[in-house]
Amino acid sequence: MPPIVWRAGRRRPALTGVPAGTIIAFILSTRSLLPWLVAALTAGASGLAGLPAAAQDHPVEYERADIERGAQLYDEFCSACHGDDGDAVPGVNLMSGQFRFATTDQNLRRIMTRGIPGSGMPPGTYSDADQIALVAYVRNMRDYDGGVVTLGDAGRGRAIYEGKGDCASCHRVAGRGSRSGPDLTAIGSVRGAGSMRETLLDPTGNMLPHNRPLRAVTRGGEVITGRRLNEDTYTVQIFDEQERLMSLDKADLQELTPVADSPMPSYAETLSETELADLLAYLVTLRGLVTQ
Ligand code: HEC
Ligand code: HEC
Repeated sequence: MPPIVWRAGRRRPALTGVPAGTIIAFILSTRSLLPWLVAALTAGASGLAGLPAAAQDHPVEYERADIERGAQLYDEFCSACHGDDGDAVPGVNLMSGQFRFATTDQNLRRIMTRGIPGSGMPPGTYSDADQIALVAYVRNMRDYDGGVVTLGDAGRGRAIYEGKGDCASCHRVAGRGSRSGPDLTAIGSVRGAGSMRETLLDPTGNMLPHNRPLRAVTRGGEVITGRRLNEDTYTVQIFDEQERLMSLDKADLQELTPVADSPMPSYAETLSETELADLLAYLVTLRGLVTQ
């Protein structure tokens, strides 16, 4: 079967062979929906994400000293498995504030002390004070590394995003921009300023596994590179560099491999420290839509 190709922005009557999730993601990213509609859809789809912090069962503010102590404990006892950004265990993102097995701080303490039986999450012995500190850190991981990185002016950062940085030529925010790179609409809720700074300075060295572009070679010798949107046993959906959404039949491919180098340029030379600080200040404000 030849690749199904359709151009972004053009409606197609039938999206055969593409899983429903892709279609929804595609429609969401195609239509420039009003922010409230997006927020409503997201709140419906992901439960707690839509609730204001005050409605969740934990204090909104934690003691700075607890957070700092928690960061040390986390480095010592958790980061070997969960990674510095809390996303090294597949399916778990400690920085996102959303947990499959916990909603309250009490739940989090129980997971740390008792572990999750039958899984790779081990029990641990921590004093009450250390448990409180670990919870405080986990709840603030996202902003914690924001605290050690200098943040500048978000308004100027936005101008850099749209202008000098030319980020929109590869990324989308709230329905505007390109689809060839990851959607950044909610990047501020999943990545901290510190780790985003690393990405800006050295994109290849900080590429997340799920963001690795794919290189596909068809039996006919056609080479397609782009971003993976979805994949099942028989097909893979890719946004190629020309922003075309392609559905490839794996049986028709002679090669399907992740690309080692990020297409994103390093900004180490092109942006000054002040410009980076402004840009990061803008990126951490992007918390609009929880993408899958
Ligand atoms: C030996 C590796 C390992 C260590 C050390 C470890 N974890 Fe885990 N943790 C895991 C794994 C694996 C899972 C996922 C379990 C599953 O999916 O069933 C997990 C799950 C969790 C979850 C549940 C996530 C969710 O979505 O509900 C939390 C919270 C958690 N860990 C916090 C911690 C904290 C805090 C520490 C340090 C005090 C820690 N872990 C240390 C491996 C580890
Ligand atoms: C030539 C295309 C291109 C340009 C220009 C570009 N990026 Fe990227 N960016 C990508 C691709 C592709 C990825 C995914 C692979 C990776 O992580 O390196 C990415 C990844 C990222 C990530 C990590 C996303 C995640 O899911 O964690 C951030 C943050 C980011 N870019 C921000 C920016 C900002 C800010 C700019 C402008 C200063 C920019 N990018 C410019 C292509 C680009």
